[in-house]
Amino acid sequence: MIRRWSILVSTACAIALGASNGVRAAEDLEVIHWWTSGGEAKALGLVKDKLQTQGVTWKDVPVAGGSGVQAMTVLRARIAAGNPPGAGQLLGFDIVDWSDQGMLADISSVAEKGGWGQALPKPLQAFAMQDGKWIAAPIDVHSTNWLWINKKLLDRVGGKEPATFDELIALFDKFKAAGITPLAHGGQPWQDGTVFENVLLSTGGPDFYRKAIIEQDPAALGSDTMKTVFERMSKLRTYFDPNFSGRDWNLATAMVIKGDAAAQVMGDWAKGEFVNAGMKPGQDFVCIRFPGTQGSVTFNSDMFAAFEAGKAQGDAAMQLAADVMDPDLQAKFNLIKGAVPARLDVPDTNFDACGKKGMKDLKEATEKGTLMGSLAHGYGAPAGIKQAFFDVVTQELNGQLTADAAPKALVDAVAGAK
Ligand code: GAL
Repeated sequence: MIRRWSILVSTACAIALGASNGVRAAEDLEVIHWWTSGGEAKALGLVKDKLQTQGVTWKDVPVAGGSGVQAMTVLRARIAAGNPPGAGQLLGFDIVDWSDQGMLADISSVAEKGGWGQALPKPLQAFAMQDGKWIAAPIDVHSTNWLWINKKLLDRVGGKEPATFDELIALFDKFKAAGITPLAHGGQPWQDGTVFENVLLSTGGPDFYRKAIIEQDPAALGSDTMKTVFERMSKLRTYFDPNFSGRDWNLATAMVIKGDAAAQVMGDWAKGEFVNAGMKPGQDFVCIRFPGTQGSVTFNSDMFAAFEAGKAQGDAAMQLAADVMDPDLQAKFNLIKGAVPARLDVPDTNFDACGKKGMKDLKEATEKGTLMGSLAHGYGAPAGIKQAFFDVVTQELNGQLTADAAPKALVDAVAGAK
């Protein structure tokens, strides 16, 4: 079966990559990614193992740094040097950019054989397919509008799960009064951006999110609602510990795991860390939608693409594409990763309460039209615009810009990035 498949992908690959003499089955596959935290590395291990059993040796190119900021710098340098890896983890508008530049291999033959068109939600297809060709294989759907709370600390202060922003503040005040750091935060632009998109969605609702982030409407960017968003960001800063600057996201999660802080605003890869530490949802930690964002889902999806110029490894890269879309692998991988399967046909049977909620929320948001791309993870706006948001958000959060002045600064920064 494996052999038959590999002949198939081999042929498909030869056609797709335009090789004239056919493509020899490659045995090594260099893959760039940023999954280096405990939960991330464990989940990725399943993909590596599967490829290994198919005779492909995974050559790991891990580049630490949440949301792939550093990995993308390394990737750009390698592509510029004409030495791209065979395949890599990519997100959102970066996929579109690389595809526009002709850097990604056509994996349509694998996609068609695997029925990806039926299995994947449309918002994912909008990125994974460009100009009628499949160029990326989504393994998961993460979402960023989550709040993670240490259950013991919540019980210690007699707190309840907050449903609104005001309730969140009331809860954080309780933690503060009890001498507990309320909010574990890592002061890196993408993490500031993650908190920002949550506060924005909570404050203005899904229509405002769409106008401000997806459409970058200057009226929304410069509005009074946006001013409130920044005021709330400043308020949240008062709940950080003094050492938040530059902290990696998984170290912030570790603070919540250890009970050094009560809560974290983070995508559901944080659940991968809780679970990896042996903690159980409902019992040791609580997963709730960021207060005020219930009913909406801000998503990011990890996709794997094959690089056109890495064609010597084309065969193996096609096998990787087929594997990451395997329903069984997606079920197992996402249990560990904390995400939900990208495929809609994977049952939720083995998922824990947070995973089941994630899958249900995703389905509902898709139906209601409140499934929207995460800005911080490259699905809300192209990279230059995302960066413009980050610049203003980080400045304001660090007190270098007032909440009053921030909306106008945002209007200007976004206009400048267009
Ligand atoms: C996201 C990615 C997740 C997780 C996170 C932290 O961008 O989609 O899978 O790795 O970054 O690194």
